Amino acid sequence: MKLFIDSADVSEVSALVKSGLGLIDGVTTNPSLIAQSGASIHERIKELCAVVEGPVSAEVTATSFDGMLEEGKALAAIAKNVAVKVPLTEEGLRCCHALSREGTAVNVTLCFSSAQALLAAKAGASFISPFVGRLDDIGHDGLQLIEEILDIYRAHDFATEVLVASVRHTGHVTAAARLGAHVATLPPKVFRALYKHPLTDRGLRAFLDDWEKTKQTIL
Ligand code: E4P
Repeated sequence: MKLFIDSADVSEVSALVKSGLGLIDGVTTNPSLIAQSGASIHERIKELCAVVEGPVSAEVTATSFDGMLEEGKALAAIAKNVAVKVPLTEEGLRCCHALSREGTAVNVTLCFSSAQALLAAKAGASFISPFVGRLDDIGHDGLQLIEEILDIYRAHDFATEVLVASVRHTGHVTAAARLGAHVATLPPKVFRALYKHPLTDRGLRAFLDDWEKTKQTIL
């Protein structure tokens, strides 16, 4: 399973890529993350594309088909590894279809149902982004949606990759991995939490305390 970082903070992404043992396969951004960063979208996407080799999702903000297509083309021109992100609306899917036919990778975002995911796959999306955390927030089961979409995509051999988004904790990541999701995009805090277990910390402390008593050194 591929792991993306859900952030527009280039220094944070860069630090994770450098320390990540090749674990970071791409980046996702959205208009809120770009706004939080305070950077220009063109500059920031260019910087992120230089930091990671894999796809960097950059989202359109127009809502009409023509507007999305024009913005999508401008974003795709920033770097070869841009994936244009479009919302799961009728116009968004038309734009996905048009861009995909031209060979541009498209990530269809704000997916909350398997019916929407079916349409995105038929529209030629490279990625579908179901938002598990936001579904959990309203008392639905986000991971159930991932299972449904994977069943549909497998049954019909769709090439669209399921990109689990709106990830809130490590349990979302491991459950998505067990289900066979292709990608999960993680806030940096959740990525770092994947390394952590209290028994690892406690065990290491005990080993080092015992080792110190021996007064030995290895080198
Ligand atoms: C990623 O593509 C999404 O934009 C992101 O995961 C949304 O996460 P949120 O629900 O925490 O805002």
